[in-house]
Amino acid sequence: MQHPPRKIIIDTDPGQDDAFAILLALASPEDVEVLGLTAVAGNVGLNWTERNTRIICELAGKPQMKVFAGCDRPMRRDLVTAEHVHGKTGLDGPVMVEPTMPLQSQHGVDFIIETLRREPTGSVTLCPLGPLTNIATAFVRAPDIVGRIAQIVLMGGGYFEGGNITPAAEFNIFVDPEAADIVFRAGVPLVVMPLDVTHKALTSRARVEAFRALGSTVGRVAAEWADFFERFDMEKYGSDGAPLHDPCVIAYLIRPDLFKGRHINVMIETQSELTRGMTVADWWGVTGRPANALFMGSVDANGFFDLLTERLGRL
Ligand code: BDR
Ligand code: CA
Repeated sequence: MQHPPRKIIIDTDPGQDDAFAILLALASPEDVEVLGLTAVAGNVGLNWTERNTRIICELAGKPQMKVFAGCDRPMRRDLVTAEHVHGKTGLDGPVMVEPTMPLQSQHGVDFIIETLRREPTGSVTLCPLGPLTNIATAFVRAPDIVGRIAQIVLMGGGYFEGGNITPAAEFNIFVDPEAADIVFRAGVPLVVMPLDVTHKALTSRARVEAFRALGSTVGRVAAEWADFFERFDMEKYGSDGAPLHDPCVIAYLIRPDLFKGRHINVMIETQSELTRGMTVADWWGVTGRPANALFMGSVDANGFFDLLTERLGRL
């Protein structure tokens, strides 16, 4: 029997790979109902990420989506950005027209709090695709919402792969480790898509050409984003393509069977400068600390790209 679509809030810092995640969600109304999208500072500043989120909604033909601007800097640190990966706008590659759909006047954190208080307990899933600043700020301001969340499915961290912004840390967790620490300690059911998974979801010529072959504007733009995004990782890792990190989060909501992982304890390093933002993942169960996350380790990459391409083809 088909379940009703899951209600989700996407918290995002686009980012070309965030764009793939948002398009996948907006193309999948039978699986997910997007209640709203909250932008956060991360890959680039908030002025860019809220604009980019609106561009992506318009590209998907969904200008009625509600987009909110959230926090413009981490809880206790200076913002670190990633223009070297995503370009000056965060969404470099194809030329995009400026969005005309409005930015909501409510703050993104207030939207998260209000939505969780309004919707029935256990009915809303949060999907963070960037630093966890908005989510943790909402938890600090309104602790009553924590127990109302169905699940958090997030992209962040790494264990076997190590880090991508430092040897120890993945970008999203590194940027706001205090926020990540709050989220990982909150007791909310967590599903984590670390670099161990996303570095297996690599674009290749054939996969990018499959986007282009859709023959639509979305297909062309997706291919051009992938082309732009690839150059950095291919040079860095010597791989044939780039990891599409963030759509793993949405793909999990649609096809959880594509992913394999373990229920383990994961803690965030906040003290050390050397390993700031490391996800200390007890994969081998050596600490005796209770599990707080389903930490994923692998993905069926062909199944993932088939799903993504099929759904992009709907837009
Ligand atoms: C994460 O960092 C960002 O650059 C990507 O959008 C993704 O969310 C990967 O480390
Ligand atoms: Ca992101």
